[in-house]
Amino acid sequence: MRVSGKPYRTVWMPDAATVRIIDQRRLPWAFELIELHTVAEVAAAIRDMAVRGAGCIGATAAYGMALAVREARSAADLQALAAQLIATRPTAVNLAWAVNLQLEAIRDGGPEIARPTAERVADEDAAACAAIGQHGLHLLQDLAARHPGRPLNILTHCNAGWLAFVDHGSATGPIYAAHAAGIPIHVWVDETRPRNQGVRLTGWELAQEGVPHTVIADNAGGHLMQHGLVDLVITGADRVTRVGDAANKIGTYLKALAARDNGVPFYIALPSSTFDWSLSDGIREIPIEQRNAEELTHAEGIDESGRESTLRIIPAGSPVANYGFDVTPARLITGLITERGICPASEDGIRKLYPEAV
Ligand code: MRU
Repeated sequence: MRVSGKPYRTVWMPDAATVRIIDQRRLPWAFELIELHTVAEVAAAIRDMAVRGAGCIGATAAYGMALAVREARSAADLQALAAQLIATRPTAVNLAWAVNLQLEAIRDGGPEIARPTAERVADEDAAACAAIGQHGLHLLQDLAARHPGRPLNILTHCNAGWLAFVDHGSATGPIYAAHAAGIPIHVWVDETRPRNQGVRLTGWELAQEGVPHTVIADNAGGHLMQHGLVDLVITGADRVTRVGDAANKIGTYLKALAARDNGVPFYIALPSSTFDWSLSDGIREIPIEQRNAEELTHAEGIDESGRESTLRIIPAGSPVANYGFDVTPARLITGLITERGICPASEDGIRKLYPEAV
């Protein structure tokens, strides 16, 4: 996508020893690129969420493995560096998927295969999101035709935009495609506490692309649905089981419940790298990341002079729990928008699109 008219991906390798990323911790206050030269630096960037979003951390880890082959002195070293990357964040399966794909490729093709494999992971991630955009476009075209004369109101949670992938985005793929096709769209952007990826990242992305949107507090979605102000919900996912249960940013489940209660279609958009074919019970089996208390107790922003600053918003005496993700059961999901098309969130539906996998 473009930033101030210049096309960017979220992560790339300008040379064999460097991984370059957009530092998402600085957005929307500053657009800054940073360079990573070691696996430890890549792991820290993922852990500290300089890069975040399932597809983006998968691609970043794949590039990290291209640095790992330069650092490793033995096969055991390489395994340890791979484990270091995988351990950074537990919920998004794209991370382990990309690292394991690299380990297999390197075992069969030698260390020189690591960089082209990382490029392939990144290219396929971008291509999958572009295809998700086209499949989702048909869905939005149909819905828009049912509501002539007004914009289609889409609610999204967190950031499943191009910043969460290499390019295009999953939940935003159909939105950008519809906007480009001239379909009037308006997006309700959940703030997404505690890190505010909705307002800070999705809001920024949509503004860059000129897509009309409104930021809302996380708890406003149910009210909007009760008043007919949401035509559909589209979110991304960090891990989807083979039966269609979907882990995504904390709060997604509550949106799905409200959507079901109000007859609003609820879609999850994901590339196939987000499926975990080994799991069938999302609530019991998907590992849910718990992050540090400071994300909840403190808020980042800019002060009146435009200077970035951090403010304590929860008193020191109150203990906090910071669950990063929740699981939306398949029964609450209207459909999965994938790079191969849209399917029901069920084992049968998924198997029809991915017969080789389940
Ligand atoms: O904690 P984050 O910012 O990495 O969480 C991101 C999300 O929950 C996204 O919605 C998710 O990764 C799906 S889109 C890749």
